[in-house]
Amino acid sequence: MGQNSLKILVVDDSEEIRELVTFFLQANMECEIVTANSSRKALEIFKKDPTFNLIVSDLHMPDGHGIDLVRYFDKNDSQMPIVILSGEATNKFPELKTRKHLTWIAKPFSDDELIAAVQSQIGDYAAANKGTAQIEMGAYIPVKLDLLRMIRKVQTPLFIKINNSKFIKMTPEESIFNQDQYQKFKHKGVEYLYIESFQTEKFICEFRKNTLSQEAWKQASANEAQGFINLNIDLMRNISNQLGWREELLKLAQENIQRVLHLVSQEKQLNLLVQKFLHIEKFGFADHCTLSALVATALAEKLGVGTPENFRLLTFAALFHDMTLSDEQYDNKSKFIKNIRRGEHLHLKDAKEVFAHSAKAAAMVKNWDFCPSGVDIVIMNHHELADGTGFPMGRQAEQLDLLSVIFIVAEEFAQFGIDASGMPTVERYIHATKDKHGKNPFKEVYKILIDSVAKKMVA
Ligand SMILES: [Fe+2]
Ligand SMILES: [Fe+2]
Repeated sequence: MGQNSLKILVVDDSEEIRELVTFFLQANMECEIVTANSSRKALEIFKKDPTFNLIVSDLHMPDGHGIDLVRYFDKNDSQMPIVILSGEATNKFPELKTRKHLTWIAKPFSDDELIAAVQSQIGDYAAANKGTAQIEMGAYIPVKLDLLRMIRKVQTPLFIKINNSKFIKMTPEESIFNQDQYQKFKHKGVEYLYIESFQTEKFICEFRKNTLSQEAWKQASANEAQGFINLNIDLMRNISNQLGWREELLKLAQENIQRVLHLVSQEKQLNLLVQKFLHIEKFGFADHCTLSALVATALAEKLGVGTPENFRLLTFAALFHDMTLSDEQYDNKSKFIKNIRRGEHLHLKDAKEVFAHSAKAAAMVKNWDFCPSGVDIVIMNHHELADGTGFPMGRQAEQLDLLSVIFIVAEEFAQFGIDASGMPTVERYIHATKDKHGKNPFKEVYKILIDSVAKKMVA
């Protein structure tokens, strides 16, 4: 860090926002960042060390409002440049309108907006301090391990720093940064990995999506979403009972489905998709999706990967995975899948659409900020099979991540339930599919279903 580098205090109660702001700033300028989760904490830090050049702060925080910071500097006749990040209306605080060294940005904000705001404030600062503030960029940008774990899917290679001029590539172009990866580096005492600075844009895109989707999810609280759509839960309850799954699991799946649909209903351009769920037809599209969500939720829980993030991701995948199929294509999909298997899809319009539907839906969810990062991977893979005969990529079992495989098995099982017209028997499913799932991670996922049946039979 250069001697004259900027020192910025970032204040927000949300850890994701603090990380996002820190990353945006470090990716664009040489600066030292200190973070605080409340204005009270920020003032404590500032009083001990008054050498900061800029404050970036949220307004509404549980432990001390952002306005207190502004008032503190004004009372002490300080010209401290401040960037306010907030969803609230400015007119509640007239002093924010008239303050000279202050820029207001509404949440959610883009990296460009934040950098422009900071640069306009720093510009003032730099002029006042005869240009001591320097804005420059290194070839590699540090990224905290915790941050990588939050992002899950990283689309840029990650490097480890040997010294200031030597960096070694640790991961490929696209990688999943899961708990194992996190532990591996943490164990070695590594706190930061690095990305190449020219890849920043790509990296930020994924991160931003992740942060925004979490904010959206918090806002679509289960209470607000409940009753929005009357789900047909008879079929879900039937399957749940056959497998001896707890009532809470059914409730959790139901709540998450309501929340996702509530989020979708707020997007005008997705009205058509919402309509598909409003017109519930027995054993139709909605049942197929909601049942997939329930089974995926149960499998994730029983495999020990039942985190709220994974439940959320699987629910999104369940509701969106077949969304580009027309009614006709959906109703006849097993016929079209047979066409695809025989390689006859290239000249049949509908079979071609079915062949492309995973990739199409994956591309769509990638563009929705409210949809968590990683949902696209699961959707893309939902017709892949353990032996590599699936489509569109023909991936082998070992090329598929656990969440994708959970969803593949859940979706297939849900469809079996639908095809049995509400009288699905789990034993029949296992009899029909037992030879298909011999390889891990399919084997371990499939075993959960078999074990559930066995337990139920004993009980
Ligand atoms: Fe499906
Ligand atoms: Fe599908």
